[in-house]
Amino acid sequence: MAYNLLKGKRGIITGALDENSIAWKVAEKAHEEGATFVLTNAPIAMRMGEIKVLAEKTGSEIIPADATNVDDLTNLFVKSQEVLGGKIDFVLHSIGMSVNIRKKIPYAESNYEYFMKGIDVSAMSLHKMLSVARKLDAINEWGSVVALTYMAAQRTYPFYTDMADIKAMLESIARSFGYHYGVEKKVRINTVSQSPTKTTAGSGIKGFGDFFDFANEIAPLGNADAASCADYCVSLFSDLTRMVTMQNLFHDGGYSSTGISMEIMNKLGLENAE
Ligand SMILES: NC(=O)c1ccc[n+]([C@@H]2O[C@H](COP(=O)([O-])OP(=O)(O)OC[C@H]3O[C@@H](n4cnc5c(N)ncnc54)[C@H](O)[C@@H]3O)[C@@H](O)[C@H]2O)c1
Repeated sequence: MAYNLLKGKRGIITGALDENSIAWKVAEKAHEEGATFVLTNAPIAMRMGEIKVLAEKTGSEIIPADATNVDDLTNLFVKSQEVLGGKIDFVLHSIGMSVNIRKKIPYAESNYEYFMKGIDVSAMSLHKMLSVARKLDAINEWGSVVALTYMAAQRTYPFYTDMADIKAMLESIARSFGYHYGVEKKVRINTVSQSPTKTTAGSGIKGFGDFFDFANEIAPLGNADAASCADYCVSLFSDLTRMVTMQNLFHDGGYSSTGISMEIMNKLGLENAE
């Protein structure tokens, strides 16, 4: 059911690689809710071509941009305003990549070039985007920027390796920039800390399948899927959340507040533990 929550709003949505991507679902929902937006991804991801299907479905233009490249990002914000006919109301940062994870390098043996690359792509890119947008004055007052993150920023998950530190930085940038952009232009910046979700980025993590099931059994509501994450992002882009900024918001079915569930206790044979 649609509520026209984003009627008349203009956005930029990064990170839709294929139909499993969280960003893909956000684009579909934002379209249903009446938004117009530009889709963007790294030029290399573009070659896979699937994003064109989403663009057609949502009547969107695609503007390629490597999120580590300030010139690309400047072009993205300038062209998006031309294409959409005005300043931007919402931005989704849905970008994550760790070469250390891809190459299955254990955390303590992290390769620092790869680590730096991960920081640039997955965290600094948010700073770069915001900095470019601010310089161009490209975001409307009360505009909303959401970046996707994971709870490994607060608690250690050994398999998440350098992405844990990178997500901590991403969340910090959202807070720090949220202050400055809020004071100057009333632009809101939040991170959404999402449940494990079966996507290309998620499934690249060692042991992801088992952990997905574990998290599902801990969370009282079960894991939040990509479609419900999209609903939450849309609410954050809408005017109904105008006073929410600089927050890390857990969207995880209650996982982050649960110590252990009876389901897991029973599995461990601890149901009679006193
Ligand atoms: N899948 C999960 O379990 C999960 C859980 C919590 C948070 N997240 C976060 O959600 C976000 C989206 O990931 P996803 O799970 O939808 O996976 P995904 O693989 O579909 O999306 C990641 C996107 O990042 C893009 N990207 C990589 N390098 C880029 C660059 N240099 N410039 C521009 N774009 C680039 C990729 O092309 C891809 O579209 C990420 O930040 C991820 O860390 C995912």
